[in-house]
This record gives sequence, C-alpha cells and structure tokens, in this order.
Amino acid sequence: MLESTQKVLAEIEQFSVENAQDLEQFRIKFLGTKNILKDLFAQMKDIPAESRKEFGLQVNHLKQKAQEKFDSFNFGGSTNSDFSNLDLTRPGYALPLGSRHPISLVTEEIISIFKRIGFNVSEGPEIEDDWHNFTALNLPMEHPARDMQDTFFIEQNPDWLLRTHTSSVQVRVMENNKPPIRTITPGRVYRNEAVSARAHCFFHQIEGLYIDKNVNFADLKQTLDYFAKEMFGEKSKIRMRPSYFPFTEPSAEVDVSCSLCNGKGCNVCKHTNWLEILGCGMVDPNVLRNCGIDPNEYSGFAFGMGVERIAQLKYEVKDLRLYSENDVRFLEQFK
Ligand code: DAH
Repeated sequence: MLESTQKVLAEIEQFSVENAQDLEQFRIKFLGTKNILKDLFAQMKDIPAESRKEFGLQVNHLKQKAQEKFDSFNFGGSTNSDFSNLDLTRPGYALPLGSRHPISLVTEEIISIFKRIGFNVSEGPEIEDDWHNFTALNLPMEHPARDMQDTFFIEQNPDWLLRTHTSSVQVRVMENNKPPIRTITPGRVYRNEAVSARAHCFFHQIEGLYIDKNVNFADLKQTLDYFAKEMFGEKSKIRMRPSYFPFTEPSAEVDVSCSLCNGKGCNVCKHTNWLEILGCGMVDPNVLRNCGIDPNEYSGFAFGMGVERIAQLKYEVKDLRLYSENDVRFLEQFK
C-alpha cells in the first residue's frame, strides 16, 4: 500500500468513537463534503502513471472502510444514515415537565372562590396615569398618603407611572360600567423599594369591588369570612381592625386565624394566632363621584390583598425573592 493511503487507513482504524459527537467528527473527517479522502483523490495527478490505478483502488477501499466503520455505530441519533438497526420499540426520552407558578396557582384559586359568589374578573394596564392610580381614589396631588406607596414614575411623562396597586382598576371598572358591579382584579404592581426577603419592587395583588344599592359593611364582612374559610379551611376566622385608606371610609385591615399552628402559636403568626391578609372598607363617596356613580343611590365595598402574602401563608415561603428568581428547585415543588 502506498504510504499516504496507509496513513489514512490507520487513522480510520484508530479513530476512537464513543458517542454521537465522536461519530459526527468521524463523518465530517472521512465522509463529509470536505473529507480527507477527497484530498487524496486530488493527489492523483502527482502519482506516477503506473501506480495510479492501484492508488485509485486503495482510496476507494479507504472510503468503503470509513463507511463501514461509520455504519457500525448507532447512538440513536440521526447522524447515522443507516436506519436498519433503529429500535422503534425503545421508550422515548422523558421530557422535563414544567409546573404552574405558585403565584398563578394562588391567583387562580382566589379567582375561583370569588367567581362562585358572582364576581367577574377585570384587568387594567400596568402603566397607569395619575388619575386612575391616585387622584380618582381620593388621593389628590398634595395628599400625604401618596407617600404610603413609593412610586416609579415614567421619565418621559410625569403623568405616567407604574401602578402601585390594583385599586387603579376599580376606577376604570366604575368609569365604564353601571352598577351592580361585582368584580375582582388580579395583577402585578410596582413599588420603588429595595429588594429583600420581605419586600420587592414588584408583586401581585387582587382587588375586589362590589357596588350596588344598599351594600353595607356586614356584606363586606360576610364576603371576606366566606373567602377565608374557602381559602384557609372551614375552621378559619377573620377579625377586622380599624385602619385608614384614602379610598374607603370606614376602612379596616383583616387578619385571618393562623392555620399553620391552629392557635398553638408559631413563628409565622409570631405567637399572636392572627395573620394580616388584606385591606378593605366601604368605597368613599368621593371615589364613587369621581367615577360617575351617584353615592346617594349606590354604595359598595372594596378590598385588596397581596398574592405573595397569601401564597406565603399557604406554602410557608419565607423569602419573597424566590417567586421571581426562576430557580427550578423552588418551582418544581409546586407540581
Ligand atoms: N390598595 C391598597 C394597597 O395597595 C390595598 C387596599 C386597601 C385596597 C383597602 C382596597 C381597599 O380596595 O379598600 O395597600
């Protein structure tokens, strides 16, 4: 055998193929469009006439050897052009299956609880104007309560901001619909806060709004009591504490009895047996008026809760950052 073909034969024989990648390298080198056998053919013209035939036979032999070696491997991929030893009965590779995000799970559960008592779902924009996020909600320009929520403003237009709460959608719903109104509004909200385990610059809220003739505080309490029992179990109780929100009068904050320790006292309820879950109240007549609803004819209640907070109580997640870090080890626990 000629020296050059001898060398390539040795290369073919010694080429170690252990996986599909090796096989592909082998294919490129010896059988691909720019394979080294083609280089050998190109050398034909330099071979003395009497050896040319022999050289041609040897190169063809190499080509055959390379093809045989290539065909002898099957890594289940499509690189091997010979499908005869493909095992079609072999089970497929299991694809990793994702899971719903805990925030979506809790949001959907809350929505379904309120749907059962006749609430529908409304949505509004995350980029809001001052009117819907503040002014219409009884928070005029110089109102000190604007500082309760650190706001991200949009540089190009001082009238635009990232909504700080889903209460903005209350306004939109009342502006565009005649009572009776019974709606809940899930959505993402933004606040200019340093990110830590207990605070984040964005999170999720669900707002509720009920406007009709003769709606009173007892209706509010009854609705929230029903919600707490559906969400946290039949034994759950709620308590209301007087509070202040510019858009409701009177206003209250609502605690639910701790379902984690059932009154025994634990770290989550800080041994008080109560966990704060939402703010609520009777919609302030000024807000109704701002939205074109006559407060002498209609009244209503509103409430707003943080979805992360409810999820934290349900799943005992201590660090808020986990919700937005997309760590699969966290997310796959919600399958
Ligand atoms: N918007 C309030 C917040 O983000 C929550 C809230 C409180 C909503 C009372 C309401 C309400 O509708 O009546 O902190």
